[in-house]
Amino acid sequence: MDRRSSDFVDPEDLGSNPSAEMSMGDLIGRRLGRRAAVRSLVGIGAAAALARELLGGSALAQPAGPSSLTFAEVPHGLDKTHHVPQGYDAQVLIRWGDPVVAGAPGFDPANLTAAAQEKQFGYNCDFIGLHALPAGSTAGDRYLMVVNHEYTNTNLMFAGLGEGRASRTKASKQQAEVELAAHGGSVIEIARDGGSWKVVPDSKYARRITGTTPMDVSGPAAGHDKLKTSADPSGRKVSGMLNNCAGGETPWGTWLTAEENFNGYFGGDAGKLPDAKAYKRYGISKATWYAWAQHIDRFNVEKEPNEPNRFGWIVEIDPYDPSAAPIKRTALGRFKHEGCHHALTKDGRVVIYMGDDERFDYVYKFVTAKPWNRQDRAANRTLLDEGTLYVARFADDGKVEWLPLVHGQGPLTAENGFASQADILIYTRMAADLLKATPMDRPEDVEANPVNGRVYVLLTNNTRRTEQQVNRANPMARNAHGHVIEITPKDGDHASTEGAWSIFIVGGRPGIDPGARYHRATSENGWLSCADNCTFDSKGRIWIATDGAPTAAGIADGLYGADTAGYGRGLTRCFFQAPTGAEVCGPILPPDDSAVFLAIQHPAETAGSTFEKPSTRWPDFKDGMPPRPSVIVITKRGGGVIGS
Ligand code: FEO
Ligand code: CA
Ligand code: CA
Repeated sequence: MDRRSSDFVDPEDLGSNPSAEMSMGDLIGRRLGRRAAVRSLVGIGAAAALARELLGGSALAQPAGPSSLTFAEVPHGLDKTHHVPQGYDAQVLIRWGDPVVAGAPGFDPANLTAAAQEKQFGYNCDFIGLHALPAGSTAGDRYLMVVNHEYTNTNLMFAGLGEGRASRTKASKQQAEVELAAHGGSVIEIARDGGSWKVVPDSKYARRITGTTPMDVSGPAAGHDKLKTSADPSGRKVSGMLNNCAGGETPWGTWLTAEENFNGYFGGDAGKLPDAKAYKRYGISKATWYAWAQHIDRFNVEKEPNEPNRFGWIVEIDPYDPSAAPIKRTALGRFKHEGCHHALTKDGRVVIYMGDDERFDYVYKFVTAKPWNRQDRAANRTLLDEGTLYVARFADDGKVEWLPLVHGQGPLTAENGFASQADILIYTRMAADLLKATPMDRPEDVEANPVNGRVYVLLTNNTRRTEQQVNRANPMARNAHGHVIEITPKDGDHASTEGAWSIFIVGGRPGIDPGARYHRATSENGWLSCADNCTFDSKGRIWIATDGAPTAAGIADGLYGADTAGYGRGLTRCFFQAPTGAEVCGPILPPDDSAVFLAIQHPAETAGSTFEKPSTRWPDFKDGMPPRPSVIVITKRGGGVIGS
């Protein structure tokens, strides 16, 4: 979700963590002072060689240099359309309103209905996953593409609502129902056709999942009293998933999708309810972002106080079985989940890395109790229901410790309000507070590099961190441009509860923004701001998508590639520029690196933009046609590996 202009600042995203003031910044402030802390970053962990290459605050160097990525960089800029490097083509694969399931009507922006939207591609595409066809194969020319639909820009979907976030609360009941249908996710089948890709119409796998799709709840919190509502006295059947931002996949080929800012859909006065403290910690207040609570009782916490507890989970969906109910996996905790990428332990268990995207919130991982079964896919059906959830503490000495969120251990007891493991999972943030996890600068994607085994933590920004709250893992006060941390698990094992961390890059304009750090050969186009999602190509190079570029400086969000090893390590290069108002999400390459798929989310989400007069009509550029969030695919003209 974009937070670039003040109009779109998430009013609930001011940071609800009361322990932020107790952060290690107090310590570091005493021990080092901020400038010394920043200076010392380059000496942390395994980064000694990098230190010689890193540069903070001096002149920009020439492009290309030692990077293994040799594409011609896209010059920084900002306009109504997208840009790719010379010699590359971008193709729009599917847009908001395009048919997904058989029988879907054509897109009619003047007459949006929930019934049509439930069959069409949803709004604000985010995470993209690729699942090879036929099932069980690892690469090829056919995939099931799974896509999240995070949220809706009400005023760009419907006429007459005006501009800005406040306009969202003006939606009618019928419009709110369209919005619910535009949330969730899509499964589409795609195929390579010569040098391009196309959506396979009427695929038997095609599916829309929405804010009303029936879902099961599993794991330790299933059936808990706090999950029961008048519509579901069992606490095991939820209607829909909401604000699915990033995601991941399991080794057995299911889609994991992460419910993020679910709080914004709820209205009513949570402050007068018995669990007022918990609602506050999760950002649920009278300041609803949407009109849903006016029209649909379950979104009013005064009428249905437990409904918010049924959101904020990781949802597992089998893309190969359109009849299978999505399952909310409570063992992975409840917070504002950004993503959920997996790695394997040395003994074959599955680790899911996750970020809680709010200022001063935490980084988590979940480790399954049992290894995954390679021979019998069905045997993995309940694997994510049993395991250990950990939260990260980043120490100033360059070590990271993973603290178990287990009932009965340490302060996680009934005396402190946690009567069971289910309580810990429903109120994960509050349990993590007690463990004194490290409050971070908005953790977005947390993803293991399959080539070097290190884990990259994308911290998008946190302009509310004060000088006193600075620590070595969050080295910037008023961090406007974010940074990326690299974790090396102890013994190279993702099961380890210890590791070493170092800073990979610090965003911002070198020489202008304090602390900005990249490889010294980073060009004037290669620096970035607000890293959000990432992926890795088969060579282990990182591709970083941004959300929150400094548009006032005339710079759009984009996609940047960088080596993670060798002479070009940390040398980010600009590969893609988004149209105005859009963030770039969901980057993913197929195993042969022959394409990169991107979700272009909320085009035209700028101050003053309306349905009648959007700041861009990307990608159709036709009068009367609104801007349409879309998935695009970028290929090299004539074929070849992306980036080089
Ligand atoms: Fe939906 Fe954390 O971005
Ligand atoms: Ca974001
Ligand atoms: Ca995101």
